[in-house]
Amino acid sequence: MSDAIATGSEVQVQAQAKVNLRLRVLEREPGGYHQLESIFLRIALADLVRVRVLPSGRSLDCAGPAMPAAGLGRVEDNLAWRAAAAYAEASGWPRGFAIAIEKHIPVGGGLGGGSADAGAVLRALDAIAPHPLGDQALAALAFTLGSDVPFLASRLTSAIGRGRGERLEPLPAPPARPLVLVIPPFAVNTGEAYGWVAAARAAGALPMHADPPLDARALGRWDALARVAANDFEPVVATRHPEITAAVRALRDAGATIAMMSGSGSTVFGVFEGPPPALALPTEFRVVRTSS
Ligand code: C5P
Repeated sequence: MSDAIATGSEVQVQAQAKVNLRLRVLEREPGGYHQLESIFLRIALADLVRVRVLPSGRSLDCAGPAMPAAGLGRVEDNLAWRAAAAYAEASGWPRGFAIAIEKHIPVGGGLGGGSADAGAVLRALDAIAPHPLGDQALAALAFTLGSDVPFLASRLTSAIGRGRGERLEPLPAPPARPLVLVIPPFAVNTGEAYGWVAAARAAGALPMHADPPLDARALGRWDALARVAANDFEPVVATRHPEITAAVRALRDAGATIAMMSGSGSTVFGVFEGPPPALALPTEFRVVRTSS
């Protein structure tokens, strides 16, 4: 099954963002990367990704309401470009591509925007390839692009991610709920945030959690998800940016059943049982209403 809308050599895919309902940073591998235990949940907020297959040439155009004024840097460094290049390298097709992305997902905010675009490009190409690679090969390719890409390249609504995020265990999708994203006026560098976790651990300020194993069958319910909701990045980022604590408090005060930071931040999200009320927050925070 594919969510791609294809017409000849062109295909359009929704690149949905994710939130992490749980993000435990575990052992540091000898190479410096950390093992993770994550719960990913796809949300309605999405970029729109169009991929055109060409006889030659490569291009990437990004526009849309979430484009940062400073742009997105060199196209060759963009994860969506790298996904298409990796696909072409792995399968010998296509020779050329033109990618157009309409950005709606805030950039650099822990919502997996760049990874979602990369995952969408992989799905798009495989939907129109003369010899599709298939889901397994696509997942392996996704893992070479980053920890969030295997989940976002999949069609899962929710999953536990282990290893560096590539070992996915599907979860039953919880019922759709209103979600409010609070985006503080700063971004967090992911590599730096891992360094803060490691430093806090070394100083004995952040325990290495030894929680009971997650029971996937129970995690299709919001009350069960709320009990395991935790993010190891949240305390170390909040120490440096008190705005995180303010955003979590505002969401809780407004009745959110879960209020926490996503990924390495800086986005904080709240899950609501009904229509969310207005939030009491300074105007420098951007508020985006969406749903799971
Ligand atoms: O995946 P991404 O390129 O955003 O990671 C940035 C940095 O975060 C890595 O270079 C690494 O230092 C750190 N990282 C880590 N463990 C992971 C993922 C990232 O330590 N599982």
